[in-house]
Amino acid sequence: MEKIQWQNNLSVGVPLIDAQHKQWIAHYNDIVESIASRQNKTQIAKTLGFLIDYTGIHFATEEKHMAGSRYPAFQEHKSKHDGLRATLGNLVKEFEEEGATEQLSEAIDTFLGHWLIRHIQEVDTKFGEYVKGKGIVLA
Ligand SMILES: [Fe+2]
Ligand SMILES: [Fe+2]
Repeated sequence: MEKIQWQNNLSVGVPLIDAQHKQWIAHYNDIVESIASRQNKTQIAKTLGFLIDYTGIHFATEEKHMAGSRYPAFQEHKSKHDGLRATLGNLVKEFEEEGATEQLSEAIDTFLGHWLIRHIQEVDTKFGEYVKGKGIVLA
């Protein structure tokens, strides 16, 4: 598992969303750190909990603004979020049953880390372009 470094190619051009993505990455990196330094189960559970809570907040923010700006691809985008919400639920279950196994680390890396980068670059970016094109300022 590797930490994710924020880079400009992750910017969707909307300050509110970029700020939340940076925050999300910070929570993700906390998990990488706590697994790598072999923290105890309670501490790992806590960092995982923070990431899950923040994911909920972030998705809700995007969905609120997609609905509010009548974004045509809202449902499609939301269904991608729903997919990750389900994945997170499974990861937590797996963690509670098995602890921070090698498989769990790999799953976090694949399903969260890679998912996030791809989602930002392929899905969130399109919403960013829509927002900019319409001259909407998200606050
Ligand atoms: Fe999104
Ligand atoms: Fe996002």
